[in-house]
Amino acid sequence: MTVGFFMHYFNRKRIVHKIVAGLLFFVIFLTAGILAAIAAEYYEVHRQQAGHADAADSRYLTSVSDRIEQGDELTKKIALTFDDGPNPEYTPILLDELKKRGVKATFFVLGSEVELYPQLVRRAGEEGHLIGVHSYKHVNLRQLSDEQAIEQVNRTNEAIHDACGQYASYIRPPYGCWKEDLDYEVQMVEVLWDIDPRDWATTSADLVADRVLQEVEENSIILLHDASDSSVRAACMIIDRLQAQGYTFVTVEEILME
Ligand code: NI
Repeated sequence: MTVGFFMHYFNRKRIVHKIVAGLLFFVIFLTAGILAAIAAEYYEVHRQQAGHADAADSRYLTSVSDRIEQGDELTKKIALTFDDGPNPEYTPILLDELKKRGVKATFFVLGSEVELYPQLVRRAGEEGHLIGVHSYKHVNLRQLSDEQAIEQVNRTNEAIHDACGQYASYIRPPYGCWKEDLDYEVQMVEVLWDIDPRDWATTSADLVADRVLQEVEENSIILLHDASDSSVRAACMIIDRLQAQGYTFVTVEEILME
């Protein structure tokens, strides 16, 4: 036996002791953790069995009031859209009526008319309405070359920008005829419609309103024109009836972002 052997033996013993002590601490902590988890689980089950109805009710009420505040799930939305404007005679009347009723709408404008009546587009924008592009001269874009169609869109968008300081992001092409191969170059969101009461083909506001009210449902996009007295009156009738049924009138952007 040498001193070296004893030193070696001694060190091994110390290492074994350390390992045993470590294991012991580990087991103690593990047991404490398990006991704490069991106690927490027991407390939760006991609390639920005891029935904390008040707490449960207040949680429910909080979630409902949050939803009302957010105004999303519980609101029926609908969008009125007006094409072919701005119109010097009817757009101002329509804007007055929308304002009275707290309604936001969308206007798909003609560039040629925006250049003539920029103040109407500026007013619509300032009053919270959404401005979109129709075209410059109310043409079927599919019957034009790509360059001509792009010109129709860009010239209108420049006029909108000159009028209210912002470019439009939405386009409703005349007759719903868009050139899909221009999607990449134009990069606007195309917006069509769900209900077309053909307001331009009649002078009866009642007829237009009836057609819309028969077809309407949540998130409908309604096509009208701020180009005649009967269309403006029909819009008012539609708003009054649907607001009474709990609908909220929003821009198409709010419908499309759902
Ligand atoms: Ni049109």
